[in-house]
Amino acid sequence: MAPRATPCNTKHPHLLAFARPMSKLWDQFGAVYKIRVEETSVKNISMGLMDGKKGIVFGVANDRSLAWHIAERLHAEGAELAFTHLPPAKMERRVRILAEPLGATCIVPCDVTDDAQIKAAFQEANRQIGHLDFIIHAIAFASRSSLSNPFHKTSRADFLQAMEISAFSLVALCQHGLRYLNEGASVLTLSYLGAMKVVPQYNVMGVCKAALESSVRYLAADLGREKHIRVNAISAGPVQTLSAAGVSGFDKILRHYPQKSPLHRNIRAHEVATSGLYFLSDLSSGVTGEVHYVDAGYNTIGW
Ligand SMILES: NC(=O)c1ccc[n+]([C@@H]2O[C@H](COP(=O)([O-])OP(=O)(O)OC[C@H]3O[C@@H](n4cnc5c(N)ncnc54)[C@H](O)[C@@H]3O)[C@@H](O)[C@H]2O)c1
Repeated sequence: MAPRATPCNTKHPHLLAFARPMSKLWDQFGAVYKIRVEETSVKNISMGLMDGKKGIVFGVANDRSLAWHIAERLHAEGAELAFTHLPPAKMERRVRILAEPLGATCIVPCDVTDDAQIKAAFQEANRQIGHLDFIIHAIAFASRSSLSNPFHKTSRADFLQAMEISAFSLVALCQHGLRYLNEGASVLTLSYLGAMKVVPQYNVMGVCKAALESSVRYLAADLGREKHIRVNAISAGPVQTLSAAGVSGFDKILRHYPQKSPLHRNIRAHEVATSGLYFLSDLSSGVTGEVHYVDAGYNTIGW
């Protein structure tokens, strides 16, 4: 970054009054510029880590989705991708607009509450691109009321729905996907600190994430024995996405992390993507059953 031009002649205090806000602005611009350059350069580096690998992505809703950021990164590294979308035509359009420019041809509907749709999605992916080397599971849902009312008021129906979509779905994907996965494949899901600690308003989703993280360990044991398949989770810090907007008070969480986390900032979506690349490539060939925090270190702080 170019050095700042700051007038230092104290005979002209009016110039200093002008220069200070300008230099603050320049600092802010510099910080944003630096982040953009870092992001762009990370995105542009390709080491071919996913050359020859094929996988299916569950959980893209739009270009803010964490699944999308991971998918883009994997594509840049040479992966061939199949995508799923929620059945409504509007959701299909949103996913197609992103996935087709990556050369994806297999874009199939899948509501994870329906075993038949999960089966059909894997069959279609297998028909179009063959056996798979990875699965990305980036799916969660809880009713708006269960993410705003006190936790003890969660209804039975809301609890079961959130559990089915946010936790059991990983088991269902592994169940139906196993026969289409190659030996040594990798499965990745996304979790959040609310699994381990109380986070205001995260409520039933915290309980779902606890079940999801435990499922990761049990699935890792089963699938490791069956086909040396690895199963891991990234526990991401807060990132502004469609799902995140459903958690009331999410803005407060976003403001809190830069104050408390060791890196004094929020994470960026591309950082989840590069960690995703690690888990879905051979870089992490000896790692399974893990929950890996990508949260600027926030989870390590106890005050
Ligand atoms: N954004 C964050 O701050 C954050 C932090 C940690 C973990 N996560 C987790 O990351 C994952 C992805 O979320 P995101 O933040 O990218 O938001 P997102 O809204 O972009 O993704 C959530 C996805 O879940 C899908 N989904 C919901 N119900 C479904 C169903 N019945 N069948 C199939 N798909 C369904 C949606 O279509 C959407 O694509 C979630 O598991 C979320 O809990 C997010």
